[in-house]
Amino acid sequence: MKHFITLTAAVALVAVSNADDPKTVFQVQCAACHAVDRVLVGPSLVEISGIYRNNPDGFVQWCMKPGRKRLAGIEMPSMAAVGEPALRQIHAYILKEAAGKKEQKATGVDPFAVPRAQVRRPQVQRMFLAEASPAAIAVALPGDLSYCFDASECRLRYVWKGGFLNASEHWLGNGSKQAAVDGEIIYRETAYPLLANEGNGPDPGEPEIVQPVKFTGYTLKDGVPSFHYTHGGIPVVETIRPLPDGSGIERTFEMGGNPPGLKVVVAAPARVESSTGSLALTAAQAKSFTLTLRWK
Ligand code: HEC
Repeated sequence: MKHFITLTAAVALVAVSNADDPKTVFQVQCAACHAVDRVLVGPSLVEISGIYRNNPDGFVQWCMKPGRKRLAGIEMPSMAAVGEPALRQIHAYILKEAAGKKEQKATGVDPFAVPRAQVRRPQVQRMFLAEASPAAIAVALPGDLSYCFDASECRLRYVWKGGFLNASEHWLGNGSKQAAVDGEIIYRETAYPLLANEGNGPDPGEPEIVQPVKFTGYTLKDGVPSFHYTHGGIPVVETIRPLPDGSGIERTFEMGGNPPGLKVVVAAPARVESSTGSLALTAAQAKSFTLTLRWK
C-alpha cells in the first residue's frame, strides 16, 4: 500500500534574491514585452519613465500587482517573483535607458512571432501553457531547448526543442488563452512526484511518501533560473541547464537542512536514454545530486 499526502497547491511567487544585474534581469523578464521607445506588448520605457520618474514605490507596486489600464492587449502578469530590491534597481535602469529618447510610432508586433534564430535566450516568462497549472513558467534555455516548470506543483512538466513560444493569441486576443510551444515536445515528466522520501513511512519499509511542496520563488544566474521550493519542509533548489552538446538537460538538486534518504522516480519515455526507474539516494547523497536526461 502506498501512502499519499495531499499536495498543497498554494502558489506565492515570492522572490529570493537575484545574482544578476538589473540590465540582465530586465532583459530576461521584461524585455519580451517592453521596448525602449515603442509599444511592444506593453508600454515603452519612455512612457513608463514619464509615469513613474519620481514614484519608485508606485512602480514596484504595479509590478508586484499589476492593474488593468490600457484597453488593448493583455494584462501584465505579476512580477512579484522578481522581488522588490531587483524591481527598484530596474526602475533606475529604465529611467537611465529612456533618458533623452522619444516615443516612436507603434508597430503592433508580437514579440514571440520572431524567427527562432532571433529569440532572446535565456528567457523566463510567466505564461499560461497547456498541461500545466496557471502558475506555469516558460524558460528558453541557451541553445534550442525550452521547458515548462509548474510552480504550483514544483515540477518540471515538459521540455521542447525548436523555438520558444507562439503567443499571438495570448498577446493579441483574449488574455486568458494559452500560449503554444513553438517546437516539438521531446520529454514529458510523467513520474510524479519525482522525489519521494525513502523508508520513513508509517509502515516500516514503505518507500513512497509524497511530501507537500511549496514554491518560494526563483533566482537568476546568467539569466538561467533556479527554482526554490520546500519538499516536506526541506528547502530544495532545482536548476535545469542544457548539456553542453545540446543533447539533453542536466538537473541539479541542492537540498538544505538534513534531508532524509530519497527515492527519485524517473519515468523514461521512449526518447530518453537511461535514468529509467527509480534511484535510491542516501541522506548524504540527497544533499546534492544531478539527474541527466539525454534524448536519443
Ligand atoms: C508578458 C508581457 C509583460 C511582461 C513580461 C512585463 N510586462 Fe509590464 N506591462 C505589460 C502590459 C500588457 C502592460 C499594460 C497593462 C495595462 O495597461 O493594462 C504593462 C505595463 C507596465 C507598466 C506601466 C504601468 C502603468 O501604470 O501604466 C510598468 C511600469 C511595467 N509594465 C513594468 C514591467 C517590468 C518592470 C517588467 C519586468 C520585471 C514587466 N513590466 C514585464 C506586459 C508585460
